[in-house]
Amino acid sequence: MQLTGSLRHCRRRKIRFQDQLFSKCRIFSCIALHSMILEFMDSSIALYNSLIVLGGPERPHLSGICPDGPIEVEIGFGDGDYLIRRARENPGTTFIGIEQKPSLIVGVSKKVAALQVDNIRFLQSCAKDAFCDLFTPQSLSRVYALFPDPWPKRKHIKYRLFSTDYLRMLNNRLIPDGEGLIVTDSEDYGKWIVKQALGTGFTIEHSRVPAQFNTRFERKWSEQGQNGFYQVLLKKMQHLDI
Ligand SMILES: C[S@@+](CC[C@H](N)C(=O)[O-])C[C@H]1O[C@@H](n2cnc3c(N)ncnc32)[C@H](O)[C@@H]1O
Repeated sequence: MQLTGSLRHCRRRKIRFQDQLFSKCRIFSCIALHSMILEFMDSSIALYNSLIVLGGPERPHLSGICPDGPIEVEIGFGDGDYLIRRARENPGTTFIGIEQKPSLIVGVSKKVAALQVDNIRFLQSCAKDAFCDLFTPQSLSRVYALFPDPWPKRKHIKYRLFSTDYLRMLNNRLIPDGEGLIVTDSEDYGKWIVKQALGTGFTIEHSRVPAQFNTRFERKWSEQGQNGFYQVLLKKMQHLDI
């Protein structure tokens, strides 16, 4: 899609602003950072590749951010290359990339701007908050996470994202026939997710798969000699009210 001159100018200004903002962010508390970004976003939330920010006084509505049509979510997109590839291959779908680290959002938004990809929205948030506060029931067609943090130590298991509670929420936010895909380098985490998914309204398929996503972490594990990964595919078969 070609951008108009003024839109392109706005987008460039927005990215410069984000750069300045995020380079300063280390010295602000999260709440202050969020309200600063929100202040900026008030005037630009509908712009190209909006950065959606949760945690301010007003909750953004998906309908104001995404055009009609399927919505696909990547959790923890890292360097964003896979998100960008999927978005370019599926121009009729809106992609929401959720990432906790602001610096990654800045980096990926620059790539997206350079490539003029117009169907990606960024959400700087923990994925738990995003699912709770932004997404509405039966609004998402597909959700995926590639190489999510496995938190291997027993005392850190509580930080794992794909717990039963989270998977129930995921079920609720997916449309009928929607699906969730998780690929992990940690077989232990993969098997734990399968157990957590029992009774959450999904059919569960799990398998070992070869490298195929070409993400930074997939390359990292492959270079270290790992030649297969653990994939959990969740297909929604029953809707859960939560
Ligand atoms: C191990 S990296 C994988 C990055 C990328 N998917 C890849 O394959 O290269 C995990 C990513 O998820 C992000 N992340 C971790 N927990 C998250 C959460 N609760 N919500 C959103 N992003 C999260 C991290 O900031 C990090 O970028």
